Amino acid sequence: MKDILPEQAVRWQRLEQTFRSLVGRHGYGEVRTPLLESTELFVREIGEDTDVVSKEMYSFERHEDRLTVRPEGTASAARAYVQHNVAALEPVSRWFYVGPMFRAERPAKGRYRQFHQAGCELYGDPGPACDAEMIDMCAELVGELGVKDFIIHVNSIGSGPTRARYREALAAYFEPHRAALSEDSQRRLTTNPLRILDSKAPGDRELSANAPSVVEVLADDDAQHFAMLRRHLDALKVPYIVDPKLVRGLDYYTRTLFELKITTGQLGAQDALLGGGRYDDMIGNLGSKKAVPAIGFAMGIERVLEVTAREEAKLGPACYLAPMTAEAIGPALVLAKALRAEGHWCEVDGRGLSLKAMLRRANSLGARLALLMGTDELAENQVTVKDLGRHEQERVAIGGLTVAVRARLAMPCVPSELSEKASPGG
Ligand code: HAM
Repeated sequence: MKDILPEQAVRWQRLEQTFRSLVGRHGYGEVRTPLLESTELFVREIGEDTDVVSKEMYSFERHEDRLTVRPEGTASAARAYVQHNVAALEPVSRWFYVGPMFRAERPAKGRYRQFHQAGCELYGDPGPACDAEMIDMCAELVGELGVKDFIIHVNSIGSGPTRARYREALAAYFEPHRAALSEDSQRRLTTNPLRILDSKAPGDRELSANAPSVVEVLADDDAQHFAMLRRHLDALKVPYIVDPKLVRGLDYYTRTLFELKITTGQLGAQDALLGGGRYDDMIGNLGSKKAVPAIGFAMGIERVLEVTAREEAKLGPACYLAPMTAEAIGPALVLAKALRAEGHWCEVDGRGLSLKAMLRRANSLGARLALLMGTDELAENQVTVKDLGRHEQERVAIGGLTVAVRARLAMPCVPSELSEKASPGG
């Protein structure tokens, strides 16, 4: 679990703004759900045999309630969708969320116990067109965030009957190798053989490599859905590959699955920047009167920030107010307040430092203007405006300060080599 200090938070804010703006253009509105939900919700929807539920949830009991700090956002959003009977209000809903999730995983690069997701959920449209549009939106999103080298893996695990057949096929394949499987996978062989495919144990992985592919058992309508999805993805020129081994680690999926992976190797095994899929049965399972199909994805914010450029031009205050005497501090506070009311970022240095020390501080903050107030200025009701971006200074009457500041901030800065060499009029 990590602290995010103000300088790093700037990158988080930019990422969130880009996300909000892009999904906003696709019609997604924000949902904010509690960090705590009943443990039962996650156990039922994510699945008892998944790593998330069996090993990673932070759960506790309080006043007879069994509660869990959310390990993901899909089940919470679906619970809210059903609880507020949103299906009765509109045929299609598009929701997004941004926030912390909690999983007690073994920490590694790109894998944390508190991490943050930006995700979208779309309710009410069963067709492959909206799957394709969402996957395309994901590609556009990471592109806008500065990720260049990535590929999207897509697969279909079919709907109910297909998955039942696939489970049988997997059980038949793994059964003769039972003794070679990890303890978890031996148990899953009986309860949920699909979960063996995302086991991280080396022996399980070796066996999984030759397991039957779900594509072999897809029902006709599932296969049609998948073919249409691929056709739309081709038309949209989405960089994708069909990955028959993609199963994802959550039990709620039906039909379409996808994962966007970076191809630079920067994140080692944690190469999925985002993942998602269709979950057409969840809303019905949660007791909705109407069965409502759904699809969604979530992006790991830490992972995206880890693989995108870090250099950022440091922003500084517009005005750094430097009172040079104790008497000037009060007037400086009043001036700063007036300038902030005009929308400018102002900082007052009331520490009683020397002029030299204050100018050094103004430069290191990246301030554009230093407003100097000494005995002379106070006596004449003026301020010395030192333009650190243009290497110029002028005396300005306090009454005209806001106008002078606005005018200065509108002027471009002059690179220091130029201003040193430039002669008047030259
Ligand atoms: P997920 O694949 O478990 O899916 O997580 C989505 C993304 O969250 C991952 O691709 C990864 O970038 C990030 N992530 C997951 N666990 C960690 C971790 N421990 N540390 C850092 N980042 C992590 C879901 O959560 C589904 N709810 C996605 C979804 C939405 N499916 C349908 N709708």
